[in-house]
Amino acid sequence: MTTKPGEKRSRFDPDPMPRRDFLGLSALGAAAAALLFSMFGMLRLPKAAVLTSPSKKFNVSLPDTLPEGEAFVPEGRSVAVFKDTAGVFAISTTCTHLGCVVKPTTQGFECPCHGSRFAKDGVVTKGPAPKALPWLKITESGGTYQVDEEDQVAPGTKI
Ligand code: FES
Repeated sequence: MTTKPGEKRSRFDPDPMPRRDFLGLSALGAAAAALLFSMFGMLRLPKAAVLTSPSKKFNVSLPDTLPEGEAFVPEGRSVAVFKDTAGVFAISTTCTHLGCVVKPTTQGFECPCHGSRFAKDGVVTKGPAPKALPWLKITESGGTYQVDEEDQVAPGTKI
């Protein structure tokens, strides 16, 4: 509604906003929104962008039916646990060449990446792996075994 010069305007009918003011307020609002979103992004920065890795110590229960000398590989772990007449022991299944996970076979282990082979005690029988698979610390408590993937023991250590 337009008013004629000299006519009194109602307080419920404010003056229309000039285009210049409207554009200025719009630019100010956009800048404030951009600043707010960038601050939100900065608040997220300190949060680690990686997942935590699972603990290197884990418990394992060997199946009662596990044949003597056959590898038991706990799901999601790079470890083979064996049981024989001399005891229980754990061997890492991480290839000593470039770190692929070796697969247990009837003769020992075989690496699917470059063909290295290892005997059941982890000794290299075919390269290019430069050294044997490490034996890992294993302890027993109440029929459950605890394996520590970060703690190596001398080959032949059984409990
Ligand atoms: S990573 Fe196993 S042979 Fe290369």
